[in-house]
Amino acid sequence: MPSLAAHIPSVPESGIRRIYEIAAHLDGVISLGVGEPDVPVAPHIAAAAKAAWDRDDTNYNPNGGIPAFRRALVEKLAADNGIHVDVEQVWATIGGTQALHLAMQLTLADGDELLIPDPGYTTFTMSAKMLNARPIPYSLTPERGFMPSIAELETLVTPRTRMLVVNSPSNPLGAVFSREVLGELLAFARRHDLWILSDEVYEHFTWGSPHISMAALDAETRMDADGGIERVFSAFSFSKSYAMTGIRVGYLVTPSGMAATMRNMQEASVGCVAQPDQYAALAALQGPQEHVAEAAAHYRANYAVATAALDARGIRYLEPTGAFYLWVDVSHATDGDVASWAERFLLEERVAVAPGSAFGRSGEGWIRLCLAAAEADLLSGIAKLPAPR
Ligand SMILES: Cc1ncc(COP(=O)(O)O)c(C=O)c1O
Repeated sequence: MPSLAAHIPSVPESGIRRIYEIAAHLDGVISLGVGEPDVPVAPHIAAAAKAAWDRDDTNYNPNGGIPAFRRALVEKLAADNGIHVDVEQVWATIGGTQALHLAMQLTLADGDELLIPDPGYTTFTMSAKMLNARPIPYSLTPERGFMPSIAELETLVTPRTRMLVVNSPSNPLGAVFSREVLGELLAFARRHDLWILSDEVYEHFTWGSPHISMAALDAETRMDADGGIERVFSAFSFSKSYAMTGIRVGYLVTPSGMAATMRNMQEASVGCVAQPDQYAALAALQGPQEHVAEAAAHYRANYAVATAALDARGIRYLEPTGAFYLWVDVSHATDGDVASWAERFLLEERVAVAPGSAFGRSGEGWIRLCLAAAEADLLSGIAKLPAPR
């Protein structure tokens, strides 16, 4: 057999998916591992997808998405995110995952470096390594309230650094960056002429602090006359907001002037997003939004229940201000190898959790619990966690 491209074996496995795949072969597993909303997709969203199938809207469509969907996204971005763009800056993608990959494909060549949060979402590393780029972790530590340190970032920049990845609200920590922190990151990126990839897939889940879009800040504070987005790619998704993980629709928002390039990129990678899926997402945007608020309230209520149960057992966790995860310290039980521990915990106790090490080196000894679960499952799962002695 011929060999694969030399860099491909270095693409790491997702430590979350590993647990998910093992759990798929077991019965009676309590699932607190993957970031999967436990609420059903709203009926009007499913109906819109079915109607598209019934109309036979199943053909190829424009690379960027069907015009009605792109127009609705432009309106949503202006109204909710303060991002003012034209239709040619908004590209329908296969989930937020493809939006992230597209932005990296556009900007990173062999050996280029990008700064990624640690702990941070697994795909940032995997996607970069697929391009033979080098992810360089910057830390989000509890001592700093999960905020990045510009001083640390300054030490990590090299002549090869091309991109800063920002994820607020963050997975796995649930940290929400303030306008001030985002402003400092933007100034840092300007100083070193870096692209910013802003992952905002948890935009609808913040508790107390508002979600702020980096692209809006970029345009607002731009020094030259242009006034548009200068250096920010924004990745959004319908997966978490509308419980549409398996429908696979997201979108990438780009600076202006990239439409021809974007068309080529989409043509060569996926062609286009399936029309029924786009109609589902369009219905999600244009239909009632109460179910999003209800899901957020459900995750918030689960947070209260889960933290009370952890407190009662003396298990340490870190307080999130967004997303729907809880970052829990199990270092007293894992003997320096939380990934192996999580596998044993799954096999013996039938509870799936995400090992913290999947999110970077600083996650060793921690696990991520998904709060988008039934309350009873959350409580049974937590009851099985080992308490410190
Ligand atoms: C931070 C973050 N970005 C992107 C994604 C990708 O989601 P999707 O491809 O389903 O939109 C996820 C999924 O868990 C995530 O946590």
